[in-house]
Amino acid sequence: MSRPRLTNKAILFLAAFIAALLAIYLFWSFETSVKELLENRMGDHPATSAKTIINIVKLLLVGILGYLLVRALNVSFFGLAFRLKRIDAPTLIRNIFTIVAFTIFFLITFTFFFPDTNLGALFTTSAIFGVILGLALQDTLGNFFAGISLQADRPFQVGDVITVGAQRHTGVVEEISWRAIKIRTFSNHVVMIANSNAAREPIEVCPRDNLNARIVFFNTLYSDSPAKTIHVVREAVREAENVSSKVTPIVRIRDLGENAVDYEVKYWLEDYAKYNDTDALVRQRIWYAFRRAGLSFAFPTRTLHVERPSRMAQRDGDGGALVERLSAVDIFAPLSVEETGMLAHAAVRHIFAPGELVIRAGDPGSSMFVVHNGRVRVQVSENGRPRTVATLNEGDFFGEMALFTGEPRTANVVAIEETEVLEIGHAAMKRVFDTNPDLVESLSFIIAERRQGLASQSDSATPAHESSAGLLSSIKRFFGLSQ
Ligand code: CMP
Repeated sequence: MSRPRLTNKAILFLAAFIAALLAIYLFWSFETSVKELLENRMGDHPATSAKTIINIVKLLLVGILGYLLVRALNVSFFGLAFRLKRIDAPTLIRNIFTIVAFTIFFLITFTFFFPDTNLGALFTTSAIFGVILGLALQDTLGNFFAGISLQADRPFQVGDVITVGAQRHTGVVEEISWRAIKIRTFSNHVVMIANSNAAREPIEVCPRDNLNARIVFFNTLYSDSPAKTIHVVREAVREAENVSSKVTPIVRIRDLGENAVDYEVKYWLEDYAKYNDTDALVRQRIWYAFRRAGLSFAFPTRTLHVERPSRMAQRDGDGGALVERLSAVDIFAPLSVEETGMLAHAAVRHIFAPGELVIRAGDPGSSMFVVHNGRVRVQVSENGRPRTVATLNEGDFFGEMALFTGEPRTANVVAIEETEVLEIGHAAMKRVFDTNPDLVESLSFIIAERRQGLASQSDSATPAHESSAGLLSSIKRFFGLSQ
């Protein structure tokens, strides 16, 4: 509580206390006169009735004074406990203290002013009193006991964010009193939820000292690469303020939608109470990261294909890049520009996600691949575990062994990152061999060398000792070339 409010409260308390004392003093001073006045005005048993009324007024006045004293005791006792032990007692405990202390005080005072009245009998025999009390206290007692069970279970505490009930009131818990839970919503409104209602409703609790997660949705065009999108968004989000550095955000594809690839990013917050601001910041960071990385958000689109460009025209669009890539592959170096162009024309582009299998060991294969973008690793099984025998980069080729020998694939080839490969089939290679018989020779050397490498590392019985000369003649046989 702020200092001026505390001072105001102290002044108010002092004024009330002095007023109560003054009232008691005055009433006691004028007791005889009041009694006479009452007796004159009353009919039967004037003395007894006047005395009862005077005692009731006295009980009331002393009760007010007692209530003020109990409040003062409450504040000083719990204030002291907080100052000495840093224990901040819940409001409900303070309220129970006040109720118990005041009831004791009231009972003592009552017995003092009405020594002949049996309090127990008064409460139990008065039917009307019982009904009134029962009806009036029905809700109050329900709230009171629900409040006690909330304090005992401690499903949430002051400072936690909770969502309660069918109307899904969400806010930060400010107080749990004997009657209600007070939460402050994110619109800075205060919502009071009666304890008895809260006890009946499901409550979603996001504890203050807990890593609570949030999910934010976004989308991209189908042309944007998922691997790139996931990387870009993860890096952008993890840097945002209030995003916990203890857990790396998770970015994943939620749906392949009608107009877009739908993603979600799950991130963990340091302070959950600020999730609205953090969600907004995360969306903002995604927007900027998209701009920098050349990614695009999707919006409802409808593509009308008025005329389908021919396969040839499509290839010609970036055919130059493919020719350039293939002419940089060392085994294709002896080919003429036309021959490389023919290979590029026959090549089919494929894209693979990080970790995806491009070639599976043991599968039949009738094509080879050139790494256009990205990297792959060649893996064999050693004692049942994958072992990398080579890492191939842009411009390297693989898959030639099965293509040229007709044998099954000798190894797994796995994309390390998002990787684009160019696949060249049997027919295209045969055409190249027909005009460049020397190529078969250089390839047979490479295959023999790779076989050696495999034989030393793999579990499988790879025929390692076939010489390059033997390979050369079997390749020629396989491709129907003259020996
Ligand atoms: P293929 O057997 O068709 O399929 C797996 C491919 O992995 C194989 O052709 C080679 O292209 C490649 N490969 C196998 N061993 C090696 C190695 N030691 N170095 C590089 N590439 C290899």
